[in-house]
Amino acid sequence: MPDLNKPKIELHLHLEGAAPPSFIRQLAHEQKADISGIFDADGGYDYRDFTHFLSVYETATSVLRTPMDFHRLTLAVLEQSAEQNVIYTEAFLSPDFCGKSDLSAWRDYLAAIEEAAAIAEQKFGIVMRGIATAIRHFGAEKAKKAALCAAETQGGFITGFGMAGAETVGKKADYAYSFDMAREAGLRLTSHAGEWGGAESVRQALFDLNVERLGHGVQVIDDDALVDEVIAREVTLEVCPGSNVVLGVYPSLREHPIEQLRARGVKVTVSTDDPPFFKTTLRQEYAALADVFGWQDDDFLEINQIALSNAFCDEETKASLQKRLTQT
Ligand code: ADE
Ligand code: ZN
Repeated sequence: MPDLNKPKIELHLHLEGAAPPSFIRQLAHEQKADISGIFDADGGYDYRDFTHFLSVYETATSVLRTPMDFHRLTLAVLEQSAEQNVIYTEAFLSPDFCGKSDLSAWRDYLAAIEEAAAIAEQKFGIVMRGIATAIRHFGAEKAKKAALCAAETQGGFITGFGMAGAETVGKKADYAYSFDMAREAGLRLTSHAGEWGGAESVRQALFDLNVERLGHGVQVIDDDALVDEVIAREVTLEVCPGSNVVLGVYPSLREHPIEQLRARGVKVTVSTDDPPFFKTTLRQEYAALADVFGWQDDDFLEINQIALSNAFCDEETKASLQKRLTQT
């Protein structure tokens, strides 16, 4: 059995999606907001399928109203990740949820999140960077506003631009303007693709958006030539196995293509996506991979090295994380 306590790098975590249900309930209580319908009898998040998951997610997120709410959230989430011995996390933050993509409001939210991240780095030793994220089903016009927020605040903390949400809404090309704007501002690019939209959605993310990483990306396995393209472009997959199984992308971890993708030579990393929604942790994800595919310390070190090499932070930050990753 591998040592599950070793340092870890996580590239795919939604800040709002990492909010524990108790945290969201507390905010709802403070605001006298009735969101009880999104919880099950045990107090966990309750949803039927992916579309319903997105709606429950947005209801939970609706009680994150002020910059101070995001300050508290960031501290809580980073403490939770540090308990997993995550030493570096790249979190998706959406300007749509932080002041409705108004640039001046976004700056206020971002200042609060950055301040909390600096406190967490001091207290828990975890380094965080943000990926400003458009929500695809909010449409291309909203995505342009999110991209403008990202572009205006790029550097240091905001290192990337991404897109989450309902992947089957519209075409990737509708969002090319936003990705081009973010790239020109110096941001690194990732998009959710190949979670629900099949290999065709991965093709569009590569050819229309020119991303260097794919959120999930796992359905590329259905198109051999496209797997070759992913390898040739050295694109990294942010794979979230537990999320895929709970949401029903694959019936079980045994039937999940993560091991096949690795064997084909695709750069694979492992993340949790929205851990409380899927009742998972990064340690649990590693334990399941060890159990089902026999992954050992060497395998986990390899995926963490891939994650660090393809993280969006600067080289100096990477060098100091690299030392911590290989410390025994
Ligand atoms: N936002 C939060 N989690 C997501 C997921 N798994 N897919 C798309 N958008 C998301
Ligand atoms: Zn995601």
